[in-house]
Amino acid sequence: MNIDILLGLQWGDEGKGKIVDALSPVYDVIARFQGGPNAGHSLEFNNVKHVLHLIPSGIFHADKLNIIGNGVVVDPSVFKKEIEALGPPVSELTKRLIISNKANLILPSHRILDAAYEMSKGNSKIGSTLKGIGPAYTDKTSRNGLRVGDILKKDFRQRYNDHFINHLTILKSYDFKFDLKEYENGWFEGIEMLKKFPVSNTEYLVNELAGKAKRILAEGAQGTMLDMDFGSYPFVTSSNTISAGACTGLGISPKLIGDIFGVFKAYCTRVGCGPFPTELFDNTGTNLRNIGHEFGSTTGRPRRCGWLDLPAMKYAIMINGITKLFMTKADVMSGFKTIKVCTSYKIDGKTSFELPYNSDIAIEPVYAELEGWQEEITTKRDYNELPSALKKYINFIEKQTGIPITMISVGPDREETIFRN
Ligand code: GDP
Ligand code: IMO
Ligand code: MG
Repeated sequence: MNIDILLGLQWGDEGKGKIVDALSPVYDVIARFQGGPNAGHSLEFNNVKHVLHLIPSGIFHADKLNIIGNGVVVDPSVFKKEIEALGPPVSELTKRLIISNKANLILPSHRILDAAYEMSKGNSKIGSTLKGIGPAYTDKTSRNGLRVGDILKKDFRQRYNDHFINHLTILKSYDFKFDLKEYENGWFEGIEMLKKFPVSNTEYLVNELAGKAKRILAEGAQGTMLDMDFGSYPFVTSSNTISAGACTGLGISPKLIGDIFGVFKAYCTRVGCGPFPTELFDNTGTNLRNIGHEFGSTTGRPRRCGWLDLPAMKYAIMINGITKLFMTKADVMSGFKTIKVCTSYKIDGKTSFELPYNSDIAIEPVYAELEGWQEEITTKRDYNELPSALKKYINFIEKQTGIPITMISVGPDREETIFRN
């Protein structure tokens, strides 16, 4: 069982990129299995912050192999920009990164469709990142998609045009103005960049490497509460963000899975629309946003902030089969007098420990109140040095969930990490 999975337990932005980068030294391969440029995974080292969208967060480790799996949707123009911003020359990066020929392409017209669909929804919009994710996965499941492997085919341009004509027909029914040229030039330049990288049946490679006892880390994007099936539908993304998604998104058997790491923030954030039972509309929410720099890594939008939601987290732990928890951003709450944690919901006056089916139902969070910690913790590297109130908070979560918290992130830098066995 050489494949571990790391994924988000909340609404995304839990700090997955930082943790994957910090864990990369103990793995041989880092692989993305779903999502696309809607993701924004930040990591920091040597005082420089990097934000990755499509490329796995192991890319800065020269001796690691990174894989973009079949479950990912790839926008070539985003890919090119990201490659060029990384630093190392392309000739070096082509040795570190392989792309599945079965990953579907996001076309410029998918981005336009995403915007047209959102606009037409009026007040009930999803709050999409507008990166074309929904329309690209729609074409995949309706068996109309173009895939990375197709870019090498002689009739690729013709196929692209056929897709565009289909999308144009749909767009005619929307009152939506767009400038395709703006996207198209960069997109075709991106195709040329993609051609420089190895493209293959990565499912063979992943299984072969797992068979040779190489250690593989599958890096999730978004979060469990944005999962297409189990998130707060319809306010979700268009892929399976849960651990099962790693099997379909890389071509691996569940038998190969070892640990399943669940990353969560010490509080909650959500960007975009949809239910968020513990959302704070007061100064505490504003403080969390400002101190935690809670602004989207992909869109720059302010993130909605609230207290930790244990019923939602327990649900995520159950659906994913989490074996270890990793907590991020407790440093943001240093100085808070008290900390609240939602332990159950009141729905229609009745206590509930379950997430309701209806996403428009009124949920009243029921809170436990814990003592806050006053000390700065970013410089701490040993669990024993952490303030006792924070240790109590950690123990409380472990007791409630039944899962050990084996890593505590105390800052955005890869060094600002406490491992605990
Ligand atoms: P991801 O999408 O899950 O990879 O998370 P994002 O990168 O979108 O958002 C997490 C943000 O928190 C980024 O700006 C990180 O640099 C930052 N971050 C990650 N871990 C910590 C932490 O423990 N403390 C603080 N203060 N910031 C963190
Ligand atoms: P990472 O990997 C946070 C949200 C959007 C919107 C909904 C659907 O950085 O954690 P989409 O563009 O997928 O159609 O948007 O999902 N969303 C994210 N929120 N982090 C992300 O990724 C997200 N990716 C999508 O804000 O509410
Ligand atoms: Mg993010």
